Amino acid sequence: MSLRNKISRREAKIAVIGLGYVGLPLAVEFAKVGFETVGIDVDRGRVANLNKGKSYLLDVPDKDIRPLVRKGRLKGTGDYKVLKEVDAVSICVPTPLRKTKEPDVSYIMAAAREVARYAGREQLIILESTTYPGTTREIVLPMLEEKGLKAGKDFYLAFSPERVDPGNCRYKTRDIPKVVGGITPRGTRMAKLLYEQIIKEVVPVSSTETAEMVKLLENTFRMVNIGLVNEMALISNRLGIDVWEVIEAAATKPFGFMPFYPGPGLGGHCLPIDPFYLSWKARLNDFPARFIDLAGDINHFMPRYVIEKINEALNERRKSLKGAKIFILGVTYKRDVDDVRESPAIEIMEMLLRKGAVVSYNDPYVPELRVNTTLFKSVSFSGRSLKEVDCVAIITDHTSYDYRQIVKSAPLIIDTRNATKGISKGRDKIVRL
Ligand SMILES: NC(=O)c1ccc[n+]([C@@H]2O[C@H](COP(=O)([O-])OP(=O)(O)OC[C@H]3O[C@@H](n4cnc5c(N)ncnc54)[C@H](O)[C@@H]3O)[C@@H](O)[C@H]2O)c1
Repeated sequence: MSLRNKISRREAKIAVIGLGYVGLPLAVEFAKVGFETVGIDVDRGRVANLNKGKSYLLDVPDKDIRPLVRKGRLKGTGDYKVLKEVDAVSICVPTPLRKTKEPDVSYIMAAAREVARYAGREQLIILESTTYPGTTREIVLPMLEEKGLKAGKDFYLAFSPERVDPGNCRYKTRDIPKVVGGITPRGTRMAKLLYEQIIKEVVPVSSTETAEMVKLLENTFRMVNIGLVNEMALISNRLGIDVWEVIEAAATKPFGFMPFYPGPGLGGHCLPIDPFYLSWKARLNDFPARFIDLAGDINHFMPRYVIEKINEALNERRKSLKGAKIFILGVTYKRDVDDVRESPAIEIMEMLLRKGAVVSYNDPYVPELRVNTTLFKSVSFSGRSLKEVDCVAIITDHTSYDYRQIVKSAPLIIDTRNATKGISKGRDKIVRL
């Protein structure tokens, strides 16, 4: 049976390489609509959990996985040999930055090497990891063609950026339109056909480079706008203007304005990283990506600005930062997720410790947090315990926190997220960005 028919009849076997925030929900969607799906991961714990029908991600409940595993429609493995039997492969491995801020595509290469080892018949291979334009054609394609196979004839290769937004209850994998671009037009059509089985709208583009660039435009757009609004916060602070009030009023304009909000710094696996994949590629092509670098500088400054704010506020109260008890509320990079990757809270805690503050934290999603060599444990709090600290710094605005109670009890609150908006009693104790 042709690959096209296998996909249309949902009889194709699918492999997802990398069972993280992107790969696991994708594998679940494929299995849900009837595809026999196997997830491949180097993390044995994740594979074992999946095979027990247990989720390890907040966004994917056990009840979504268990019946699929029971029916044998979804399973995990660490053995790449299964690639011999699959018809389509989706690569969802990490793409971090090296310390030098250069792209680290070694995970993509490791996965592609395994795919190439077992390739040999009509297969569709899709790269989903966010990366710089050119990766699919310049790195993955030559690896797959090494044995003499030809793209568009012996196999199909495409790039399709993942847009999943962890913690977002409104838009899940199947509701978010998916962009696909193939190395050949048939590759684009085949990838489109596959995703149409699980996603409401698929948007084809003319090449893998375009699809790669789409994702980087989206993330750079957010990162630069956050940089801009962070600069607005810094300027407003100098001018004695409340930046949150400014944004709220500006957002009443029905066209030509989209609100972005300042914060303690960028976090997560996307915004602090992806734009630098693009600026690196631009630099190789003799073009300095100035917006990205500038926004990067401003965003990078924000954790230090939070420290300045805490320092100033304590000073006003005749206290020094050295020896002050600072309680951090929320350490994840954004609200209602359990992800601390690149979270500004970690840098803020590091700086506070260096300055001699006594630091503790609470986060309902993060029981333990390593900051340099110290392992912190999340501390539960009450109205009484908050009275005993010198300052509460709200770094992540989890919706489960009772901000009214926090304002009532704490002697000083540094609010980096406008979480205390609308609370009037105790306003004089709140310092906002
Ligand atoms: N997390 C997000 O919100 C998000 C959104 C859109 C795009 N992305 C992009 O998607 C990609 C994956 O991100 P993620 O957040 O899912 O990462 P993740 O770290 O949550 O998951 C990646 C998984 O890949 C596994 N892995 C690493 N090397 C492997 C290999 N050689 N073979 C098999 N498995 C391997 C890891 O063990 C891990 O389980 C990245 O490029 C990221 O930028 C992430």
